[in-house]
Amino acid sequence: MATTSSEVTSAELQEQARRHLWLHFSRMGPYEHGTEIPMITRGEGCYVWDDHGNRYLDALSALFCVNIGHGRADIAQAGADQAAELGFFTTWSYAHPRAVELATKIASLAPGDLNRVFFTSGGGESVETALKVARQYYKLTGHPNKTKIIAREVAYHGTTLGALTATGVTGLRQPFEPFTPGGCHVPNTNLYRLPPGYGEENLAEAIAERIEFEGPETVAAVILEPVQNAGGCFPPPEGYFQRVREICDEYNVLMISDEVICSWGRLGEWFGAQRFGYQPDIITTAKGITSAYAPMGAMIASDRVIEPFLDGNNSFIHGFTFGGHPMAAAVSLANIQAMEDEEVIENVREHEGEFRAMLESLRDIPIVGDVRGVGYFHAIELVKDRETRETFNSEESEHLLRGFLSGELYRRGLICRTDDRGDPVLQFAPPLIAGPEQFAEMEAVLRPVLEEASTMIKAM
Ligand SMILES: Cc1ncc(COP(=O)(O)O)c(C=O)c1O
Repeated sequence: MATTSSEVTSAELQEQARRHLWLHFSRMGPYEHGTEIPMITRGEGCYVWDDHGNRYLDALSALFCVNIGHGRADIAQAGADQAAELGFFTTWSYAHPRAVELATKIASLAPGDLNRVFFTSGGGESVETALKVARQYYKLTGHPNKTKIIAREVAYHGTTLGALTATGVTGLRQPFEPFTPGGCHVPNTNLYRLPPGYGEENLAEAIAERIEFEGPETVAAVILEPVQNAGGCFPPPEGYFQRVREICDEYNVLMISDEVICSWGRLGEWFGAQRFGYQPDIITTAKGITSAYAPMGAMIASDRVIEPFLDGNNSFIHGFTFGGHPMAAAVSLANIQAMEDEEVIENVREHEGEFRAMLESLRDIPIVGDVRGVGYFHAIELVKDRETRETFNSEESEHLLRGFLSGELYRRGLICRTDDRGDPVLQFAPPLIAGPEQFAEMEAVLRPVLEEASTMIKAM
């Protein structure tokens, strides 16, 4: 039996995990009845290993996080050095050098006049912060009724009760209602499933129509991801974000670009807004900001947004103890430095075409309906019938994703995401250091597994 530390064996860890660990977003029933909990014990580059010594290609960057790759002792060391110098001090009323340096660095990389950085401990807190900024901004500027948020259907913006207002996944909302009011949803940019008679150009206009419907004097912000994750990597149609920007300006509504996934090189630019050439008022980020070597997030606001908060005795009445934690800030600085020195974003731009081509090459398999995404962030949508684009009912989807694909891909050494928050998809977001060798490995697993899934579906 593999030993995971000097004292605890795999069997003991399993036992303790079953008894004491509450997994996030997980059906834990099967573990109660003996199913083994996947136990990842170490990582290096694009790979991780489990407690039995099995190696996996991490084609999801540990949930879109480990952009620089696993096992970077130098980035960990930056955190250790900082902890020895100043383990913690808060950014409530104080500053410390690493938070200042990191805010300055982020402002230099972020688009346009997004010069003000409010640190958090993760993505949900960043979204929560942005929604609160939007509300208070309008209270300070004489529009106290501007409180509503426009988000997109099936979008995921976090799980705190405020962020859930924006999250557009019914199943994630219903168990916790009621929560903060004011969340309004419009169609996302699922170009594979546009309703009949609905053109790409209608998608941005749907935001204007919703603002009109709600009353412009009640709407504070529009929040959208550059490429929407939930539903399976929906890129925008041409000109979409430019039109959304115009709409936000026309109605005096803040535009929030939720880049918890889409920043830090994921789309081949520091920020997703840069990939599509638009200028948001606020960016929310997390995950890749430290390549997840420490938990951290940030809300980055424009000069215009911070302005009323700088006036007289005003202040943003909001904060988190750990926002801007010195250790996390030092780790983030080291991560960004490594990304620059090692030209990681250039690597994405150089190889994104090959990544896409590998996924496209699977289109001959009947179950592969669509391939979409940008940079190192792609999805395959699975369909029952490629000609009609017929999707699976919930029982079939359950059988296909949870009953077969997710376990089989993992068993064959590939970590990716099987998701059915929208129609069933497989998602891939490898570390940004990945290249053709990893794409070939992915294909070697995906092809036989998807072919088997196709055969299985035909027999159903
Ligand atoms: C777009 C987006 N916003 C917000 C969040 C919430 O981030 P966290 O899980 O760090 O709270 C996520 C998480 O995946 C996300 O993808």
